[in-house]
Amino acid sequence: MEIAILTRGPGLYSTQSLYKACIAQGHIPVLVDYSRCSLLLGKEGAQIFYQDKQLHIPDGIIPRIGATFTQEGAALIRHFEWLKVPATLPSRALVQARDKLHSLQRLTKKGIDVPVTVMAEPGANIRLIEEQVGGFPCIVKALESTHGLGVKLVHTHQELKQVLETMTREEPYFVQEFIAESKGEDVRVLVVDGQVVGAMKRVAREGEFRSNLHQGGVAYNAKLTPLGEAVAIRAASALGLGVAGVDILESNRGPLVLEINASPGLEGIQKVTGQNIAGHIVRYMERLILEKDEEE
Ligand SMILES: Nc1ncnc2c1ncn2[C@@H]1O[C@H](COP(=O)(O)OP(=O)(O)O)[C@@H](O)[C@H]1O
Ligand SMILES: [Mg+2]
Repeated sequence: MEIAILTRGPGLYSTQSLYKACIAQGHIPVLVDYSRCSLLLGKEGAQIFYQDKQLHIPDGIIPRIGATFTQEGAALIRHFEWLKVPATLPSRALVQARDKLHSLQRLTKKGIDVPVTVMAEPGANIRLIEEQVGGFPCIVKALESTHGLGVKLVHTHQELKQVLETMTREEPYFVQEFIAESKGEDVRVLVVDGQVVGAMKRVAREGEFRSNLHQGGVAYNAKLTPLGEAVAIRAASALGLGVAGVDILESNRGPLVLEINASPGLEGIQKVTGQNIAGHIVRYMERLILEKDEEE
């Protein structure tokens, strides 16, 4: 099978892992820089041009879309969907997963516990918000951000007021209950095709509450409880994701889903767990392609 990996980073660890896994499983991988694809809509239907030539349509695609290219990436995936090319990441699921609030709405709707979250309007009563999220400290988060960059711990009414005053319609924030008892630790769970294929505990560095590896957090192989496994699988399914990095915080009221990543990095998790997660993703791709062939 010819499998296109949609990526802007041909040399990235995750890309290379997927590339090698395709070859190991007898497929032909093709690296496609999704930022260099043009989409043609016309009498002939949908066509994709890549670096000025018509792209040979692969049997399946593994999209690895960067956070700053969500809309472009989704448009390209939609074109492939139109051409009936199976994708390990559907366009709708990508767009939804990148919007943290939308994701939390869906999770809550499906009965999955998340930290108490308030999406406030700019003129909202700040005392009321404080009360709703259980007082200070609380978290303020940008709607779309990664690597812990848009996440801030706020300690006072004055500080919260200041932060919310800088909020614009283009860059909205939400306010969230701070789960202090998780003590800077969370668990990143990789779910592929409805199964947990790896989990790592991430511990924030001294003096930091964010456990992101990009913020100096360190990771260990983690053994999930059956409840944690079930929560991660349900969370991925609630967002329609066949490949998901589900971040879980352990709270006094049980596991809470913090966020879900639609293009989770593979380096940390493969190295820490020793699992061939790229191999699972390629097998999932195979299943989607075979199922489509059966339908035809
Ligand atoms: N409500 C919260 N309570 C406690 N810690 C949090 C909370 N929200 C975020 N964190 C910490 O900050 C990190 C980054 O937050 P997250 O929402 O995952 O943003 P990003 O998408 O930038 O990774 C989390 O991995 C976690 O360690
Ligand atoms: Mg995160």
